[in-house]
Amino acid sequence: MTELDRVLGGGIVAGASVLVGGEPGIGKSTLMLQMAAQMRSRSVLYVTGEESARQIRLRADRLGVSNPKLAILAENQLERITRLITPGTVGDPAPYQVVIVDSIQTIASPEAGTVPGTPNQIKYTTFEIADTAREHGVAVFFVAHVTKEGSIAGPRTIEHMVDTVLYFEQSDDETRYLRASKNRFGSTDEIGLFTMQPRGLVQITDPNSVFLVRRSGSLPAGVVVAPVIEGSRVLLVEVQALTVPAKGGISRVFSDKLDSRRVNRMAAVLEKHLGLQFSDHDMYVNVAGGMRIRDVGVELALAVALYSARTDRSFPSATAVAGEVSLAGEIRPVAQMARRARTASEMGFARCLGPGSVRQGESGTPVNWDGVASLEDAVKKIFGAQNGRSTG
Ligand code: TYD
Ligand code: MG
Repeated sequence: MTELDRVLGGGIVAGASVLVGGEPGIGKSTLMLQMAAQMRSRSVLYVTGEESARQIRLRADRLGVSNPKLAILAENQLERITRLITPGTVGDPAPYQVVIVDSIQTIASPEAGTVPGTPNQIKYTTFEIADTAREHGVAVFFVAHVTKEGSIAGPRTIEHMVDTVLYFEQSDDETRYLRASKNRFGSTDEIGLFTMQPRGLVQITDPNSVFLVRRSGSLPAGVVVAPVIEGSRVLLVEVQALTVPAKGGISRVFSDKLDSRRVNRMAAVLEKHLGLQFSDHDMYVNVAGGMRIRDVGVELALAVALYSARTDRSFPSATAVAGEVSLAGEIRPVAQMARRARTASEMGFARCLGPGSVRQGESGTPVNWDGVASLEDAVKKIFGAQNGRSTG
């Protein structure tokens, strides 16, 4: 599965252990079953402590997957699991190359108390399984439930015992994001993209067709398109801002998808260098499609979206922006600017505003790339010269 391989850092490493965390119902079991079914040249053991083997079988049928080399076992007892993944005779190959434990919270050992799911049990059972698996070159996936608050005693306490930690996240709709928060075998920058469909998880191979909102006519104020880098991909995303007078004069920021400190910083730069007041306004910021954006190159789009929202002027269609904004209001070079502009061009954006120069070592200037030196410059180019400075 390309999207899973991408996040793992190229694929599954023999003997490696992977934690797959996420809220109940997000699709962890579905992902594991689809993965298991696809590994046709490997023997896979799927241990289920939550559902019966029959339920897994029914889900496999519903997903339309089958794999004669996939064994499903309903089991909660640690020692029976470790015995099954150990070769019968020393020196023999392990009976399974991949083992999935769904979920680690349901596995228990009398060695660690009587109740499954306690921090002690989770630590003990994870350690024992990962250790046995490593010894015999078996790759193991631990499914772990994470509650809405995210912290929970469970999964976090075992992160240090595994090689890779993946978290499955959900946006408002059926989109699912798979991110690595730790990876001994690859970067943690990549994200895997899926949608949950009636017949299981479907990989999103063309993210720009999913995340980019196609609009006809002019854009509503506060909406700006930005090419951002997520892992090895350029994604075009729509940044949305809304500003309203703050009650009681205290400005607040509501932003889940972009770091709210970044929102405050852009508002401060706009206030200082373009004379636009934000300190008496609440700011709401969102990213269409619900993806969290960490790329610093989103800053120019964020600043322009705030400007557009605050002045009620629409951002021109067929335009995209990327760049880092310094506290002095300058637009600084960002990684892979040429590639961003090229991707924007491929997606029909005739103009891509960005920094005036490329980063060292990069070359090529796509025709649609329009360099700007400062945020004030960018605003003039986008909204017209007379609108560059406003008293707000
Ligand atoms: P599941 O993989 O059981 O989640 P988890 O193991 O993380 O708790 O999937 C949960 C939801 O996904 C379930 O509520 C129904 C939905 N779903 C689909 O929409 N299509 C499918 O093909 C499958 C298997 C599940
Ligand atoms: Mg499950």
